[in-house]
Parts: sequence; structure tokens; C-alpha cells
Amino acid sequence: MKKIIALLLSAIMVMALFAGCAGKPADDNKGGADGDKGTIGVCIYKFDDAFMTTYRNNLEEILKSKGYKVSVVDGNNDQNKQNEQIDTFITQGVKALIINPVMTSAADSIIDKVKNANIPTVLINREPTAEQMSAYDKLVYVGCDAAQSGTFQGELILDTPNKGDINGDGKVSYIMIQGDPENIDAQLRTEYSVKALKDAGIEVEELDLQRGDWDRNKGQEIAQNDLAKFGDQIEVVFCNNDDMAIGALQSIQAAGRTVNKDIYLVGVDALDAALNEVEQGNMTGTVLNDAKGQATKAVECMEELLGGKTYASGEQSVYVDYVKVTPDNVKDFK
Ligand code: GAL
Repeated sequence: MKKIIALLLSAIMVMALFAGCAGKPADDNKGGADGDKGTIGVCIYKFDDAFMTTYRNNLEEILKSKGYKVSVVDGNNDQNKQNEQIDTFITQGVKALIINPVMTSAADSIIDKVKNANIPTVLINREPTAEQMSAYDKLVYVGCDAAQSGTFQGELILDTPNKGDINGDGKVSYIMIQGDPENIDAQLRTEYSVKALKDAGIEVEELDLQRGDWDRNKGQEIAQNDLAKFGDQIEVVFCNNDDMAIGALQSIQAAGRTVNKDIYLVGVDALDAALNEVEQGNMTGTVLNDAKGQATKAVECMEELLGGKTYASGEQSVYVDYVKVTPDNVKDFK
């Protein structure tokens, strides 16, 4: 009987110990001496975005493999919601934050929050200005130089046999399917893709520019309407990302057009679906937006911040290179 009571008592003690741990999330988030490295809060602008899904999966995997606890939240494309999520992470006492802002224009208030809470923060994917970032030295942006991806898209067209001028009328007539124009990636890809053609001395004609908000269905609708309106006049379809390009491809095929024969189509991201289409000749090319490389760099910078590194004003943007993807090298990315 004594033995049973002793066993019961020790079982109760063990349970009390576990209950005690679970009841102190704020302390645990900071990490302890027992090998627990604490919790990292990750805010994504919205989960329903093809590229950011690959990116966040990479982030989560890398952070977990390094022994961090990870809490990833969906901002649902709503800046107010994301602000609340950041506040909650701060109250919970997370060790560091990785934030993909919903709106670049909200960067000031985000930076204010993390600075007041003294939390090392890595911003990703939506780049604020250097001036905005200079407000806090435990803050760094990890992303890519959006202008580079635009230039590469233009070069993909320049590399075609007729440099994009399929009908030989001396100019390249295109439609531009843009991402969310609030976003610098959308602005610079739109500008630099066309600039690459102009810089090569080519005359261009913009038949239409519409915002497709990075979304496949919108890409499909815009392309469908433009193909109905402009028909064979369209020689090039520039899409600020692959998801919209995949949508546009559906409309191109439905209209009986053939990519690389009577129309060109380029995107950015190198999503798996786009790599397949490039391989099969249904997309002229895409540009690798290196989700894994950026996630790796973001975690590296986060760990440097945790180690005490601070960033000088003007040196707070860390870039990972884009890479052109064509049928010739597509296998390297699969
Ligand atoms: C871009 C990417 C888009 C979309 C966007 C979200 O870099 O090319 O597909 O994910 O980020 O901000």
C-alpha cells in the first residue's frame, strides 16, 4: 500500500512539473539554459500566396532544424490584423521576429513597435526605404533587388530570335500584368522589364497595364480580356510573378495562341508549376526568386542580431540574387 501511495505521489509531482512549464509561456519564449532556444514569431502577409507559401515553409523548416520553436501567423492581407499579431508576439516575449509586412507603407509603425519592445527583427519580401529602417539598428531587411528581376524579364525577351517583335512591325507590343502596385517588387519589375527593351534600342508599345495582385485567377481574367480586345497585336505578356503567368497561360491557350511561336510569356519566382511550363515550352522563361536562399539568409541575419550585431543606417538591406530561368537551364532548378 505504501508503495502505491509513493508511486501516486511521484506521478502527481511529475504532472505538476509539466503543468508548471505549460503555464509559463512568456518565460519559455525567451529560451532557457536547457538547450531550448526560445520562440521566433513569423508574420506572413497572407498564407494564400503561392510564392510566400514556399518561402514560409522553408523558414519554418530552417528555424526548427536549428532548435527554435516557431509560431507562424497569417495576416490575411490585413495590416490591422498583422499589427495585432505583432503586439501579441511582443506580449508573449518572443525572442525575435521575422515579418513580411502586409503594406510597405506600414513599415514605420511596425518598426516603432519592435524598437520599443527591443526585439531583434528581420523584415522580408516587402522592402521599406533605407530611411525608415534607420530608425532601429536591430533591424534588417532580407530580400532581392526587384529591379534585377525586371531587367532579367526584359532580357528573356531580348534573347528570343526576334527580340519580341513577332510581327516584324518594328516595335514590341505588350501587356503588363502587375502585382500589388503598393509593393516595390511590382513597381520595379514593371519598370525595369520594359526599360531593358528600351535600353537595347527597341521601341515598345504598352497595350494594357492591369493590377493582378499576384493572383492566378486575376492573371487569367486580365489576359482573357486583353486577348479578346487586342488579339494578335499582343506579342509579349509580362507578368510580375509566375502565379499570374500560369493564369495568363490558361487564357493564351484557350485563345488558340502558342507561346514562343506567336506570343511570349514571362514571369518571376520559378514556382514548380512555372518550371514545368518553361520546360515544356509553354512559358518563354521565368526568374528564380530564391525562397530557400532568402529564408536561409533571413535566419542567418536573425541569429547575428541575437548575437548582438547591429546594423548601420544605409546597410540594412541584404540581397539574394535572382537568376534567369530558360529551357536551357531549367533542369538545374527542379
Ligand atoms: C514577390 C513574389 C510574388 C508575391 C509577392 C508578395 O516577391 O514574386 O509572387 O509573393 O512577393 O509580396
